Formats: sequence, structure tokens, C-alpha cells
Amino acid sequence: MKFFVDTADVDAIRELNSLGMVDGVTTNPSLIMKSGRDIKEVTKEICDMIDGPVSAETVALDAEGMVAEGRELAKIAQNITIKVPLTWDGLKACKVLSDEGRMVNVTLCFSANQALLAAKAGATFISPFIGRLDDINLDGMDLIADIRQIYDNYSFKTEILAASIRTVNHMTDAAKIGADVATAPPNVIKAMANHPLTDKGLDGFMKDWAKTGQKIL
Ligand code: G3P
Repeated sequence: MKFFVDTADVDAIRELNSLGMVDGVTTNPSLIMKSGRDIKEVTKEICDMIDGPVSAETVALDAEGMVAEGRELAKIAQNITIKVPLTWDGLKACKVLSDEGRMVNVTLCFSANQALLAAKAGATFISPFIGRLDDINLDGMDLIADIRQIYDNYSFKTEILAASIRTVNHMTDAAKIGADVATAPPNVIKAMANHPLTDKGLDGFMKDWAKTGQKIL
């Protein structure tokens, strides 16, 4: 499973990238707002740092506007993925932009039928929002499993990009189901390294090592 980082925080991206943990980046209008930076400036900085797709989201609500904004965003760098919402207009924009050979990420997907339409419209990535389904007492992972089955039935090339990931369990479950990509906030990716038995074991080793009075360096 590829790891994308769901943030516009360049310092956080840089740290994870130095460990080889970043296969791509996703942003959205809320994350740009949170960064406090100009969309083109911060996206360019991320694109220069990352050797993989960087999603930048359009904000027009009509297909024509999305296509125009998508073309503008694509000028930022060669690895830009244009993000459009899963509306009828978003699907129209997806078709136009993907026919032009551009990478398109169709976002705000909450049903298997929506994912099926995005694949038909040529999406490079479909972004089902797991956490937001869990928020309303539905099971986001069931949606990932349904999309996986449907895409595999018909050999769709669209990659399943599990989004709105909130917990480390979401990462495990997305990987078990076979999501192609998971996009997660930096704190979730870092939390994957934690285990209380690792901490306890390390504590025991350190106490015993102190008793030896030895040094390695
Ligand atoms: O990738 C989409 C993501 O940014 C949404 O996450 O936590 O706002 O539902 P969240």
C-alpha cells in the first residue's frame, strides 16, 4: 500500500519523506486554509520535494470552472493530481481532464456507485472518506471493501485512495482490504510505530544495560 500524507504542512512532509514514508501528498481547501499559505506557493514547494502525485483541489462548482482551475493548477508542476469533487459536474471535469492525460483524484466519495462512476469517467484515484462515514455510524471500511471488489471484477485501473483516515486501525484495515493508497495525517503515520510492549521491552533492556556499566561508544 502506498502512503500519501494528507497535509499542506511542508515541515511534516519533509520529516516523513526523509524516512521514505511518502509516496504522494493530498491537500484540500481546508488543509490549505490550515497552512495559512498561498495555494500555488505551498503546492509548488511540496511538488518539488515529493517524487509522486500531489493532489491540489479545484474549488469551482461547475465542470467548466473545474476544468479551467485544474489546468491552471497543473501548471504548478508535472506531478500535480487535480482533485475534483464527486458531483455530476466533477465527473464531467474528470473525463475532460483525464482525456487530456492529466492525473485526476475524485474526492468526497461516500458510496460504491459513486466510485463506479468515477472509474468510468477515467479517474486516476478515487477517494472514499472512511472517517466521515464512521462519524455517522456507518462503516467506512465496508465501502473500501465494496469498491475493491467492484474494481477487481472489471479490472478498473482507478486506484483506491483511502481518505479521511483518523486512526492507526484504519491504516491496518485499509492495507488488509487492499486499498492501493492510504492518505493519512502525519500524526497517524507516526503513531503506527507505537506499541506499549516495545516501550516496556526497551525500558527493561536499558535498566539491564545500565547494570553492566558498559559503553558501546
Ligand atoms: O483526505 C481527505 C481528508 O483530508 C478528510 O479528512 O479527517 O477531514 O475527514 P477528515
